[in-house]
Amino acid sequence: MPNPIPVIVVGMGERASIYAREALSHPDLLRIVGVADVDPQKLRQAQNMFHIPDGHCFSSVEELAAVPRFAAAVINGTMDQLHVPTSLPLLRHGYDILLEKPFAVSQEEADRLLCCARETGRHVMICHVLRYAPFYRKIKEALTAGELGDIINIHMAEQVSFFHHSVSYVRGKYASPELCGSGMLLSKCSHDLDIMAWLMGNVRPLSVSSAGSQFQFRPEMAPEGAGSHCLLDCPIERSCIYSARRLYVEHPQRWANNIWRDYGSRAGSDEEKMRILSEPDQPFSRCVYRCDIPVVDHQSLLISFAGGATGTFSMNGGASASGRHIHITGTRGEISGIFEEQCFTISRIDPCAPEGRRLQMIDVSDLQKGNAHGGGDQAIVRDFVAMLRGEEVSSCHTTLEDSMTGHRLVFLAERSRERGGEVQHYSF
Ligand SMILES: NC(=O)c1ccc[n+]([C@@H]2O[C@H](COP(=O)([O-])OP(=O)(O)OC[C@H]3O[C@@H](n4cnc5c(N)ncnc54)[C@H](O)[C@@H]3O)[C@@H](O)[C@H]2O)c1
Repeated sequence: MPNPIPVIVVGMGERASIYAREALSHPDLLRIVGVADVDPQKLRQAQNMFHIPDGHCFSSVEELAAVPRFAAAVINGTMDQLHVPTSLPLLRHGYDILLEKPFAVSQEEADRLLCCARETGRHVMICHVLRYAPFYRKIKEALTAGELGDIINIHMAEQVSFFHHSVSYVRGKYASPELCGSGMLLSKCSHDLDIMAWLMGNVRPLSVSSAGSQFQFRPEMAPEGAGSHCLLDCPIERSCIYSARRLYVEHPQRWANNIWRDYGSRAGSDEEKMRILSEPDQPFSRCVYRCDIPVVDHQSLLISFAGGATGTFSMNGGASASGRHIHITGTRGEISGIFEEQCFTISRIDPCAPEGRRLQMIDVSDLQKGNAHGGGDQAIVRDFVAMLRGEEVSSCHTTLEDSMTGHRLVFLAERSRERGGEVQHYSF
């Protein structure tokens, strides 16, 4: 059995913990030998969970980079705006990195990271975990096998449910570039644009245009009589679909963990939760219409690819249910499906068939097992380890160069949106 790869975690938050826990379930793959986090509580938790010696616990990346390299790689799970600043010194120190998406918050930052990775000869693998989900993996296989002929259009839509949208993109840490470093398209949809670029294979994008706005979560859209805080001054709280009481206490499965994790009282009583939510400066009780959101709640893109193919993408926040929809039209047929439904349909053109087509349903539910990213979170760790060991990597494997396309589409789309939909040309 090969030795586990020694790995350090930087930013032991929600995401990095998911990857790091693979060391507990698969001790043959990797071993967590160090941790760096600015939060002393996170440091302590990680130290206990992975039996890390005191000398390998650091309260900053600078401290970590000041000691001789003692692991093969780093898992970087800091927030968006810290990805590049925390990765550069570690690459220069000789670490390979598994880095969360979005890996950079601007094209300049992305270029700086790529440049540093090339100069140092280190690997940076981006957590585009959806590539590893069986739903998208099987679609990729069907396209690679030529099932649809040549692709004419890929249409994708990401519906963000009203409860996810409000807790993360209105009241939570993704509501403002000041908090997370990104706009909504980058933080939520860099996955989707990465998937589109990946499915297009060698066909490169040529241009992007985009429109979007903050449509819903503005004071003008507040219901008549609405207050500014659900539990302090809102007479219509009981009938509002965004009532903090309803979303975070009465229906605790609805992303409420996002809050109770932050406030450290996840296991507390309903009375305790109501007391916390009733605090005047409690962000999760603010009226969703009065949060002064600088990011969009919906955005659409039109992408031209070489050879005349197109890609269309829409992100819609505040939907009745979350869902990633895809419809691919090719010269020989179509694929359509919804990620959350764990199946898709291939419709092949067949002039001899009664309806002119043959339908095949591909069910991936056995493979996907209801996991949020379809098992991608675990599969990417295995692929990262395979890469570090010099073993064969999976067909979903993504290099930093590969990952650049989806992020570049986001940056160009944002510039187009800010310039009233002006077409932005994609350069290589
Ligand atoms: N791949 C995906 O599907 C996916 C899904 C959700 C979030 N994300 C991304 O994952 C990243 C992390 O999100 P999260 O929800 O785990 O965040 P989090 O807030 O739970 O974790 C971030 C951690 O970084 C630590 N930290 C902050 N500043 C630091 C610094 N200077 N040095 C070291 N540690 C520092 C924090 O204390 C915290 O423990 C974000 O970029 C987010 O956009 C990716």
